Amino acid sequence: MPATIVVGLQWGDEGKGKTTDLLAESVAVVVRYQGGDNAGHTIVLGESVFKLHLVPSGVLYPHITPVIGNGVVVNPQTLLDEMAMLESRGVATGRIRVSEAAHVIMPYHVALDGAMEARLAGDEIGTTHRGIGPAYADRAWRVGLRMADLLDPRVLRSKLERVLPEKNAVLVQTHGLEPFDLDELVDRATDWGERLRPYIVDTTGLVQAALAQGRHVLLEGAQGTLLDLDHGTYPYVTSSNPVAGGACTGGGVGPLQVDEVIGVMKAYSTRVGSGPFPTELADETGRHLLEKGHEFGTTTGRRRRCGWFDAVPLRRVVAVNSATSIMLNKLDILSGLPQVRLCVAYRIDGNVVADLPASGDLLARAEPVYETFDGWEEDLGAVRRAGDLPIAARRYVDALEELAGVPISIVSVGADRTATIFRRERPRRGALAG
Ligand code: GDP
Ligand code: IMO
Ligand code: MG
Repeated sequence: MPATIVVGLQWGDEGKGKTTDLLAESVAVVVRYQGGDNAGHTIVLGESVFKLHLVPSGVLYPHITPVIGNGVVVNPQTLLDEMAMLESRGVATGRIRVSEAAHVIMPYHVALDGAMEARLAGDEIGTTHRGIGPAYADRAWRVGLRMADLLDPRVLRSKLERVLPEKNAVLVQTHGLEPFDLDELVDRATDWGERLRPYIVDTTGLVQAALAQGRHVLLEGAQGTLLDLDHGTYPYVTSSNPVAGGACTGGGVGPLQVDEVIGVMKAYSTRVGSGPFPTELADETGRHLLEKGHEFGTTTGRRRRCGWFDAVPLRRVVAVNSATSIMLNKLDILSGLPQVRLCVAYRIDGNVVADLPASGDLLARAEPVYETFDGWEEDLGAVRRAGDLPIAARRYVDALEELAGVPISIVSVGADRTATIFRRERPRRGALAG
């Protein structure tokens, strides 16, 4: 039984938590492969709402091993707090495993994230201030701490002795902030290590053993393709690779062990933080999407920018992820709009452009070219069969599917696990068109 990847196709918050939770029922292991506690994945089970930042969305099933892979940057305090929250709500966390190779977000990373954003004032990325960029930068710079380092106070101290003076110099001299105390950091990090010791393992070995035993592994992405460090709208991106390829580097699977990639998108677009967003709506429709869609950040509480679905990057994001099928979330939010629009091209400096430009400046000047569809009034929350969707909603989904070039196999019409329409078979690798 091979691996399945769940990947966001837009700017994050596509509903990956719901998708992962839904599909996790039939798998043995769920692996988060990149990002950190900048993610906020929501799972709704009846009256219960779980908001997860680090722990994989499979944790709610007792049969699953939730794994935080080597590609994740871990804030140990967030992880401990999240585990305590889950335990207090009756969810067992003893099965969680964290990669010994995952990098640690240290308090100075969080401080630097905030300080660097403050210096960009007016031009900021709009990060989540969780220290994600600085932690990945230190990983690339080879001065990061890995989870395994927390388990040996001597190693920990010697690594911090090397890196801390430089961090403190930047914090104090460049940003006018307080320095961190070495002894205090060593104590804090040693305590994290002691508390997390039972969970820290070689997760690549764990994942490979599961695959060798014929167990099904699901890899859960955070953020989305348009926030990808390489394929997104740089520099307004996160500092990791949310794309499906990131599941190989960050989750410990080989490309040919993956036989299914489920792209997750919602029926319209949102974006938190700065950066170009051609279909953004500042009008009544934007307010409808914000309010009906409850588009407020799961991690930061920030109001998400809302707009029509932007299909210009769709073919490309399907291709770079090798998406075999799509789960389309939040179709119910479009009910009540007189018309529904889809952006199919941009007009930039008078020219019609069909592909996402690499230059952020060009994208910032892009005006959307729309295809307009009839809206529908009916509430979709109780629909469970594609044939029971209003004809106008079916036409919209068909148009999205045509533009994507792969089947929209699952449609979601409510936050709850049960508010789901299984529309088509999910093709696996090999059945990909083209
Ligand atoms: P993620 O980061 O991709 O996991 O998405 P978030 O959890 O940040 O945001 C998605 C929000 O939409 C959450 O509050 C979900 O509970 C909710 N949601 C997911 N699918 C649907 C749906 O089909 N309809 C509605 N109304 N809400 C949904
Ligand atoms: P999930 O997994 C939406 C955005 C931030 C900012 C940019 C960089 O819930 O979809 P960072 O803190 O990562 O350095 O911020 O990325 N961002 C997200 N937007 N959903 C997320 O996660 C995000 N994680 C980061 O708002 O624009
Ligand atoms: Mg989210």
